[in-house]
Amino acid sequence: MAAGELVGIIAAAGTGERLGMGTPKALVACAGRQLVEWSVAPLAEACDRVIVALPPPAAGEPGRSLGAAVEVVAGGRSRSESVVAAVRVAPGAEGYVIQDAARPLVTSELVERCIAGLAGGWDAAVAAAPVIDTVKEVAEDGRVLRTLERSALWAVQTPQAFRGEALRRALDVGADRLAAATDDAALVEAAGGRVRVVRAPAENVKVTSRVDLATAEALLAARGEAAC
Ligand code: CTP
Ligand code: MG
Repeated sequence: MAAGELVGIIAAAGTGERLGMGTPKALVACAGRQLVEWSVAPLAEACDRVIVALPPPAAGEPGRSLGAAVEVVAGGRSRSESVVAAVRVAPGAEGYVIQDAARPLVTSELVERCIAGLAGGWDAAVAAAPVIDTVKEVAEDGRVLRTLERSALWAVQTPQAFRGEALRRALDVGADRLAAATDDAALVEAAGGRVRVVRAPAENVKVTSRVDLATAEALLAARGEAAC
């Protein structure tokens, strides 16, 4: 990566409907901190600035602060719209690293490996793991249509590192295309960009449901980093 500015972005503006705790997921307590806080240091160590997209504060509610190390922006309706809001604050960056607040086990080592993965002309280098389960395509009525060839399947995660120009071009699409994207690398692929995977450790789990929250807490505690 060239000498320009490297910006870390934490997507933390979701509602956390599937977790169902009545609080935005990124702000839920996990091993003694808010979930989003676990992503700040790993990104700050590898990036020049860190921008966090948080849920827009409700009327009358004070804005939230995550400390001096990060800048906060109001997120959008979809995940990619939240990323767009953060990119707008740093429109000239040489590179971006996008991280979901929902993955508190991220490490600076994994962030660095994604950034290093851009070498050789890649537009994006994304954390991912080979799929463990056999994956079938299934119709709405439950009928199995086909079984996919597992050896070629990877489950894509965050962090995801991007060449700045490639990410900005990929995000320059309508709100409907942004809303349909479950990760930013897919938008880069759709724009013709070159995307590669970087193998992530098994512990880089995503918190979606209560069971995942318990798993993440146990893994953070086992790492000896629980802040309680
Ligand atoms: N996210 C975001 N802005 C949105 C929606 C999601 O920044 N409008 C973020 C979430 O905060 C999360 C990440 O994108 O860190 C991945 O999304 P997901 O796991 O789906 O989180 P939520 O959308 O909060 O959860 P749910 O889909 O269950 O409501
Ligand atoms: Mg969601």
